[in-house]
Amino acid sequence: MTQIIGKPLNRVDGKLKVTGGAHYSAEFPQSNLAYAVCVGSKIARGKIEKIDTQVAENLPGVLSVITYLNAPSLQPLKTLLQGGGAGETRLPLQEAIVHYSGEHIAVVVADTLEQATYAASLIEVTYTGYSALVEIDKEREQAFAPEMPSRPAIITRGNPEVGLADADFRVEETYTTPTEHHNPMEPHATTAVWEGDKLTVYDATQYTYGVRQALATTLSIPEENVRVVCKFIGGAFGCKGSMWSHTILAVIAAREVDRPVKLVLTRSQMFNVVGHRAETEQQVKLGANRDGILTAIYHEGISHTSMFDMFIEPFTSISRMMYACPNLQTSQQIVRLNKGTPTFMRAPGEAPGSFALESALDELAYAVKIDPIELRLRNYADIDPSNNLPWSSNSLKECYQIGAEKFGWSKRNPEPGSMSDGIYQVGMGMASASFPALLFPATAKAHMLPDGTVVVQSSTHEMGTGVATVMAQLAADTLGVSVQQVRFDLGDTELPRAPVSGGSATTASVGTAVQAVARSLKAKVLEIARNDSNSPLHGVADAEVAVENGRVFIKNNPTQGETYSTLLARHNLQQVEAYHDGQMNSQQPQFSKHAFGAQFAEVQVSPHFGEVRVTRFTGVFGVGRVLNQKTARSQIMSGIIMGIGMALMEETVFDSHMGQIVNANLGEYHFPVNADIPEIEVYFVPEEDPHVNPIGVKGIGEIGITGTAAAVANAVYHATGKRIRNLPITPDKVM
Ligand code: MOS
Repeated sequence: MTQIIGKPLNRVDGKLKVTGGAHYSAEFPQSNLAYAVCVGSKIARGKIEKIDTQVAENLPGVLSVITYLNAPSLQPLKTLLQGGGAGETRLPLQEAIVHYSGEHIAVVVADTLEQATYAASLIEVTYTGYSALVEIDKEREQAFAPEMPSRPAIITRGNPEVGLADADFRVEETYTTPTEHHNPMEPHATTAVWEGDKLTVYDATQYTYGVRQALATTLSIPEENVRVVCKFIGGAFGCKGSMWSHTILAVIAAREVDRPVKLVLTRSQMFNVVGHRAETEQQVKLGANRDGILTAIYHEGISHTSMFDMFIEPFTSISRMMYACPNLQTSQQIVRLNKGTPTFMRAPGEAPGSFALESALDELAYAVKIDPIELRLRNYADIDPSNNLPWSSNSLKECYQIGAEKFGWSKRNPEPGSMSDGIYQVGMGMASASFPALLFPATAKAHMLPDGTVVVQSSTHEMGTGVATVMAQLAADTLGVSVQQVRFDLGDTELPRAPVSGGSATTASVGTAVQAVARSLKAKVLEIARNDSNSPLHGVADAEVAVENGRVFIKNNPTQGETYSTLLARHNLQQVEAYHDGQMNSQQPQFSKHAFGAQFAEVQVSPHFGEVRVTRFTGVFGVGRVLNQKTARSQIMSGIIMGIGMALMEETVFDSHMGQIVNANLGEYHFPVNADIPEIEVYFVPEEDPHVNPIGVKGIGEIGITGTAAAVANAVYHATGKRIRNLPITPDKVM
């Protein structure tokens, strides 16, 4: 920890947020604004035979109704995984065919939101509909194993068949997780403003540059003509990581009516058109010898994708690296369903995958009669078994140990159903957590102003994580100024390019660029001083200079120095600038880079009603350097809360015939509210990781949700003796 790094500082934008000064994407006022409302298909599979827009068009205030009959033709897009910026490659309003319920089939533009909404309700559509394919179970004969560009469909190491056959104990079970939706508080929203052939789009996005590239591509216009702005995001969790069709619709609507157009999705529309976490059905087979040492891991299963894109929820990746086991096989299959394209949702792969793997480990612990922590310690991976690389750092053992202490694991009677509190059955469960530490190329610009304040810029995103705060901390720490003397600008493609804010990689990626640009800015300022015969630092080498409180001075003689502002004033400099372009080195990786953690849940189960309440939760994590104890804790806590929701509540329900989402609203799609969440204890194991990246951080956005659902499910088993392998753990399954 330095003066600044690691401190639990308040958010630099906290005041703006609580006073309404923070502008979200639907909150940039425009003169002469028109409103767009999307119309969604009532069928999930079939064809529009007739679409009658005449009544709607003739209503007062209605400016335009766009359908496949009159929409401009659009150019093909690539998804994020294909190197583009789109969430799905299906282009809106290009044909009469429908592939999923709620698919955009028209957009109405009017003077007011009310007029547009009413007009949208009067559009008459005649369909030819077919029974929708929305259940993996019914479509499993069409399941296929797609080759990924980066790896084969089936991955085998050692001889898993022999490993399983030779095992003294086996667990062979199927675990399922349902379709889930992100449900950020802020809905997706786009305001599109054309000025001649220049387009400005205020869009709720985790990837400003991705939206710019995708819009330019599909509209066949130069990227330089498109500016994408996103200053604040009210939560995202992955659904704003790529551009969805409504953004295109807002833009073509604005061009059509020649006015700025605002389009905000309704909560219900957000269930259909901006991605979701795919349903999974996972088979895990574990073999172990008498000592609990794993002899085989199989992790196989199915998830769904849309009729037109390939998205694989990568739930097997965690099983390849988590435990030392010489014999392993993982494979994944896909079925195409009448749903929109699934997308990244907080810890894609690891969240559902760790539910299956860590539940199976718990089952094995009971089978072998070894404590679940001890079982995991016996199978600890000294190196990454998926690639035989050493870990850049790994505090998993400390996480188990500290977690057990803090949580009070020793008070647990290992016998299922043995603990109670009044009428409630009490259970304690644990699970391992892990998420890769990723790094994407990022660029940043910085300049120092005459008063010594510093402006740092990169078009990254503030989705509530605290990015603006930790970036200011990094720049302030490097330049020896206070956090208040740094302004960090983000969310605008006029600023230097930043990657998608996903994969828990923003702090590592943008932070590396920010630290680098702050260093080169400092070097430039020091060079001015060194070459200045009037400076107290004239001729002094950088290594002998320290900076603190906006003042540069000689380390061994702190009185000999001057402030940044004095130096800049003497040279009459309006600003000093620096730029950093983050190139990725293409060397073979020397280390495997992952964050690790241990999750502990205590539950109370009502034997009469089957209701499960999480009464305590403790998570301990090794995540590299923690830049801000307060915002880091919030990230982890929110991941755990989302994991408790995944364990007990979240489930998107489809009508099996019509393919419509039955619970596309927050009344019926349940996730935790404050009353559902106990005190959550979060601890960080201090970690100095010189290998992971230049700033030593591993990313904290996603690891909190990993292992959480399994810890809760394992606690439910411990409380009740009932193993629930199908999320969410609702009362009907417990009773
Ligand atoms: Mo995250 S699912 O990479 O936004």
